[in-house]
Amino acid sequence: MKIGFLACPGTMPPASAATGAKRRGDAYEHDLQVAALRPALEERGGSLTEIDWHSPLEDCVRFDLVLLGTVWDYQDHADSFLAKIEAIAASGVMVCNAPELVRWNIDKIYLKELAENGALTIPTVWSDNPGYADIAGAFDHFECDRVVAKLRVSGGAEGQHSFSRDHMPARDWRMGGGAMIQPFLPAIQEEGELSFIFIDGAFSHAILKTAATGEYRIQSLYGGQETQITPSDSDIAAALSVLSSLPGDTPLYARIDMLRADGGGLMVMEAEVIEPFLYPVQGPDLGARMAEAIAARLK
Ligand SMILES: Nc1ncnc2c1ncn2[C@@H]1O[C@H](COP(=O)(O)OP(=O)(O)O)[C@@H](O)[C@H]1O
Ligand SMILES: [Mg+2]
Repeated sequence: MKIGFLACPGTMPPASAATGAKRRGDAYEHDLQVAALRPALEERGGSLTEIDWHSPLEDCVRFDLVLLGTVWDYQDHADSFLAKIEAIAASGVMVCNAPELVRWNIDKIYLKELAENGALTIPTVWSDNPGYADIAGAFDHFECDRVVAKLRVSGGAEGQHSFSRDHMPARDWRMGGGAMIQPFLPAIQEEGELSFIFIDGAFSHAILKTAATGEYRIQSLYGGQETQITPSDSDIAAALSVLSSLPGDTPLYARIDMLRADGGGLMVMEAEVIEPFLYPVQGPDLGARMAEAIAARLK
């Protein structure tokens, strides 16, 4: 089984030290994920090849199965990314996760659908291109003093803003795209964000991500820290119910990111089924679980 692991210019390992290609600050996460997957696949007679998803189609289809890996620039090229993975799938190569699920997951408007289907979500106001008045209105709407504004199509907290009543955007500020505004939830700086990793629908491991002092974004690029946790059965059940409400077949991999609500339950921050980092260090069985699930799919 030949597995292609799609990456992007910022995460691809430099061909040689001499090329001096500039890697992202979190490219080490790419290396950790590959280091977990490659030996597990090789043990089962498989191989893993990293490939930049911007490569020509013919180079992306030389595999039995293509993983979406670390395509961490897809949000800047959403249409060509979707077209590329749909073309890979159309050529007969299995793509995980499935392009239809990716298309659904690429726009955070899916959170509205999850909420309508009964999931506990963060209160959200949706707006096509919010400006000053939308931010001001959100404080009153949510009866809060601080909000977070996020682009509907984004990742890694890119293009995200946090505003408060005494730290407002300029009068002529515009978000620049379809966006969502949420109350800033202090739970992010108290407990932190919980991530539940599921492989083929089975719970694998969970981690708690906390922000650096003075930060609220828990991503490693902003100094966030992650620790393995043993979640309660009810917390796992909450994440599993989100997973079960995703459209289509069970995804090969999923990361459900959650935040504690005042009542003690967990609210969905995101259901990540495109290119989530799967925290292999905190889940030492990840490689074996993935390799087994991949082998089963290719049988
Ligand atoms: N409503 C919120 N309250 C507090 N922090 C938030 C809120 N929404 C997002 N964040 C912070 O911003 C980060 C990025 O937001 P998220 O919705 O996960 O988008 P993405 O990871 O796709 O950029 C979160 O991991 C969290 O640290
Ligand atoms: Mg996130």
